[in-house]
Amino acid sequence: MISYGKQTIDNSDIEALINILNGDWLSSGPAVSKFEDDLNNYFGSNSACAVSSGTAALHLTGMALGWEENDIVLTSPLTFLATVNSIIYSNATPDFIDIDPASFTIDLNILEKKIISLRKVGKNIKAIIGIDFAGHPCNWEGLRFLADKYELQLVNDNCHAMGAKYCSKKEYAVSFADAVTQSYHPVKHITTGEGGCILTNNQVLDEKVRRLRNHGMTKDKNQLTKNDGQWYYEMPEPGFNYRITDFQSALGSSQLKKLDDFVKRRIEIATQYNDLFSHLELISTPIVDNKVSHAYHLYPLLIDFQKLKINKKTLFDKLLKNKISLQVHYIPVHLQPYYQTNFGFKYGDFPVAEDYYFREISLPIYPKLLDDEVSFVAKKIIDIINI
Ligand SMILES: Cc1ncc(COP(=O)(O)O)c(C=O)c1O
Repeated sequence: MISYGKQTIDNSDIEALINILNGDWLSSGPAVSKFEDDLNNYFGSNSACAVSSGTAALHLTGMALGWEENDIVLTSPLTFLATVNSIIYSNATPDFIDIDPASFTIDLNILEKKIISLRKVGKNIKAIIGIDFAGHPCNWEGLRFLADKYELQLVNDNCHAMGAKYCSKKEYAVSFADAVTQSYHPVKHITTGEGGCILTNNQVLDEKVRRLRNHGMTKDKNQLTKNDGQWYYEMPEPGFNYRITDFQSALGSSQLKKLDDFVKRRIEIATQYNDLFSHLELISTPIVDNKVSHAYHLYPLLIDFQKLKINKKTLFDKLLKNKISLQVHYIPVHLQPYYQTNFGFKYGDFPVAEDYYFREISLPIYPKLLDDEVSFVAKKIIDIINI
């Protein structure tokens, strides 16, 4: 079966894991700190706090930034559920900004208008979460400008874009956003099985997320109200067990060494798809802004099903018979029953994201995918839709 995404594990990853299993520390040990140092080196951050998932990273970020009831956090509806759920975990209110039709990231023209209109009616906007969707960075210069102008916190949900570049820099994320969250789920650019991280240059934020990942406990002398001895700890506020293990961290360090090669291969595959589809009128391949080097976590292909005799469901069924399993990323989050019922969102609220959803299919893309498999997938799609 050819699926849309898959991990790439080699012998060096396996050896790194075995070393940990033969050692003294399975959790909260030196491999975790080493992974965090490696992440700082690669992404240019001062602090990296590795956690158990990308969702945990988003949750802790919202808590550490102090989101609370009556705060509004703005994001785009084209994302995984976790981005938006992290807002409600902190009792804040999510609101959406439609996507830019070319980059599929948050549309800055709509964003500024929305900030102005919400402020006019006395709403308390606290933060913006930009999603580097599919591996295409947002307009971060513009987002930073607006965040400064309106005094808003700025978060980068960077789960899709590890190894992407913005203004030629792969260290871009932490230089624009106050906090950057990543996921190391198996379909992502690098994997730790499950895992995630919060990257930041803000020391206070880092101290908070570090404490919250470990039940809210601290042994840091500067944070204690008293000190009964070396065993002594305090809990200024309750946190969670969102720790990552040493064996996951060792896998992460090993994978990170290969991130540039992984991204290179993803770009090769995307280029191959671009060549195979670009001559077809009813199909749109991803558009890449000239400030951006795309990391292609996803390859979103847009098909004008309305003008075809076949719908998306039939295309998926027929591809599955050919052992090709595609995905759709994503059903816009405002359409989820929970968000419709509890926040009053409805079809028609964010037409660009909804139109994208009707047309999008995510093609297989991962480093181990062979050139022949790429051609096979493209040929089958073109044959089935018969254009
Ligand atoms: C954009 C985005 N945000 C957050 C997450 C959550 O990450 P995790 O699955 O590691 O919890 C994902 C993972 O799919 C994602 O794609």
